[in-house]
Amino acid sequence: MHNFEYYTPTRVVFGKGTEEKVGQLVAEQNCKKVLIHYGGGSVIRSGLLDRVKKSLDESGVSYVELGGAVPNPRLGLVYEGIELCKKEGVDFILAVGGGSAIDSGKAIGYGVVNEGDVWELYDRKRKAAGCLPIGVVLTLAATGSEMSDSSVITKEDGWIKRGYSSDYCRPKFAIMNPELTMTLPDYQTACGCTDIMMHTMERYFTNGGHMEITDSMAEALLRTVLTNAKILVKEPDNYEARAEVMWAGSLAHNGLTGCGIEGGDFASHALEHEMGGMFDVAHGAGLAAVWGSWARYVYKDCLPRFKRYARNVMGVEEEGSDEEIALKGIEAMEDFYREIHMPTSMEELGIHPTDEQLKEMARKCSIACGGKKGSAKVLKEEDMLAIYRMAL
Ligand code: NZQ
Ligand code: ZN
Repeated sequence: MHNFEYYTPTRVVFGKGTEEKVGQLVAEQNCKKVLIHYGGGSVIRSGLLDRVKKSLDESGVSYVELGGAVPNPRLGLVYEGIELCKKEGVDFILAVGGGSAIDSGKAIGYGVVNEGDVWELYDRKRKAAGCLPIGVVLTLAATGSEMSDSSVITKEDGWIKRGYSSDYCRPKFAIMNPELTMTLPDYQTACGCTDIMMHTMERYFTNGGHMEITDSMAEALLRTVLTNAKILVKEPDNYEARAEVMWAGSLAHNGLTGCGIEGGDFASHALEHEMGGMFDVAHGAGLAAVWGSWARYVYKDCLPRFKRYARNVMGVEEEGSDEEIALKGIEAMEDFYREIHMPTSMEELGIHPTDEQLKEMARKCSIACGGKKGSAKVLKEEDMLAIYRMAL
């Protein structure tokens, strides 16, 4: 068992109607002016943005707004947001939306506080010394960005997608009303469930130690999302299922399911980020498309974990060798992806990279990871390329 620090400063306000408290929560931050940051328009169509503005008005909070954060949010809009915040004297960012609006808001927050080009943080050239405080009204249960220390941005020049993590960007509060996720397209709901499970699986599949309470919580979280993701395929308006998934999303990526183990694997995320950067795919779907190939490539190096996963998460009961049981668990996971209409290959994802493009992604992935990635099995560039080829 490894030593650990667990830091989750985000105040969670969870349940029906909680977005009405946003004005009060922002006012408590004692800020002068707020940037309301959102995505491509779902919050306008649902009426949520108007409700948020009304609540801010009632609490006497002044604000400016900037929409347009796209999935795989772009650096160009981040620069625009930084300029706007500096011009308007913004000192608090309120992200209303999914992971992309939140991550874009976090990047703007870094850019306002830190001198120089904000991309240098994502490019590992320097570290942040602070970030504007962030608040969140969440509309998509997926990334866990509402409590996480990370932000992922795509630079248009070269289509490079990179994450940057520091405690400075952990949101001050996160408003989570599961009802707000009921307007999601089914595909995005399924992408979200995939991403949530993956954040816990990235920590679970490790050779970096063991802590029983962490592993047991991780398994419970994974079983809960498995069950409720399937319910949401048939009943997208099921409040209980929406709520289970939404809270799981935050717990999956706020550090809880990593306590006592070292680092986690995160190779599937690294591999997906290159696919997102080059082909602009939805993050969760990209993860599903590559996971099975990753798992088959690494499982022998992390066999006890894969066997335990098969038994305790996927419910595999058949007898057999450890390898056979592990493989049955991987197959069951892929069956689950099919059941919620997620892809299990790049072809099913709708992308058809050439071998040159696979090599390019493996090269970029290796550079982004400093040459190697993984804990279930340490992957180098040639391993990354082999997994990409398996995932075609
Ligand atoms: O842009 P709008 O119009 O709002 O539409 C969005 C977008 O098209 C739509 N949507 C969101 N909430 C909705 C809704 N549509 C209807 N009703 C609602 N209630 O859904 C689409 C996807 O939204 P997006 O925010 O892009 O999705 P997600 O939350 O999955 O975020 C994905 C991004 O987060 C990064 C991913 O790589 C990707 O760039 N990640 C961030 C992490 C973090 N900060 O901790 C960790 C993750 O591993 C991940 O890498
Ligand atoms: Zn993710």
